[in-house]
Amino acid sequence: MTTLVIRRPDDWHLHLRDGAALRAVLPFTAARFARAIVMPNLSPPVTTTELALAYRRRILAALPAGAQFEPLMTVYLTDHTPPEEVARARASGRVHGFKLYPAGATTHSELGVSDVRRIEPVLERMAELGMVLEVHGEVTDPAVDVFDREARFIERVLAPLAARLPQLRMVLEHITTRAALDFVLGARAGLAATVTPQHLLMNRNALFAGGLRPHHFCLPVLKAEAERAALLAAVTRGESRLFLGTDSAPHARHAKEAAAGCAGIFCAHAGIELYAEAFAAAGALERLEAFASHHGADFYGLPRNSGTLTLTEQPWEVPAHYPFGNDELVPLRAGERVAWRLTERA
Ligand code: NCD
Ligand code: ZN
Repeated sequence: MTTLVIRRPDDWHLHLRDGAALRAVLPFTAARFARAIVMPNLSPPVTTTELALAYRRRILAALPAGAQFEPLMTVYLTDHTPPEEVARARASGRVHGFKLYPAGATTHSELGVSDVRRIEPVLERMAELGMVLEVHGEVTDPAVDVFDREARFIERVLAPLAARLPQLRMVLEHITTRAALDFVLGARAGLAATVTPQHLLMNRNALFAGGLRPHHFCLPVLKAEAERAALLAAVTRGESRLFLGTDSAPHARHAKEAAAGCAGIFCAHAGIELYAEAFAAAGALERLEAFASHHGADFYGLPRNSGTLTLTEQPWEVPAHYPFGNDELVPLRAGERVAWRLTERA
């Protein structure tokens, strides 16, 4: 039986929701990850430091007894975010980034930014104070093919922004394409990217395997096999600008299995195990620890965790669904097997 011991990892892109949904999903993350960058796309969104600190308190209150987990908060940028918010966020010591959602790009992004030029003073202040910008990198132009939206965003928005503000630190979230890899790996210092397990393990065929598969729909949408293979090759060769971000994004079953099912894949129930599968498939298990537990902390200027996780290659069957308040939550691989199991935490 193969086992792997790694330093305790962090999740650098996570949706925890609120209320009963938060209580349902938080234990999965807290059992695996020491910290997580928590996305602010609640409804209404977390648009100020004050709201982020209140949300943080709700997360801490929802933790299972004895859990050791630190939520790293983010603030949702709108066209009206005042530049003064950046200093408030920095001074809090609890807010670790600002999230850029192009308005309309994804779930709960309606109040996002309509044009980055509108928030240039905020971004300038972030560059001055060393605050990280987390970017949902897709254009919203309906004329652009859905599979090309990440690449167009890099050309039209991200590359010019990186050049205009050379000190601004940015994480391009949940990258899905060779275009994103080329950009991030070839860019100036201060740029990095997160990669999800779904984009390492599945290509767009998974959206249509045996019928329309709403639980495989997320944004950015799954891409072609060549893109997936390039992502897996890049993370498994140890690129230090790439790190773990599950983008675990829970939605009630009825919201996914609908005429207009919403975007988001829930993967926190196997949030490190799925990456172990991907790295094992590439013959690069020894590179998992740096991707999961070193690169992100180093980029954010936070200490690496103490403590370890032990993963064992021992298949287990994922339940068909988990409780989710008064609803059901269908996890990635529902009713199927995950090849790795979490066997110890020390
Ligand atoms: C996320 C969600 O549901 O909040 N959905 C998703 O498909 N990833 C939003 C996001 O990160 O785009
Ligand atoms: Zn997300």
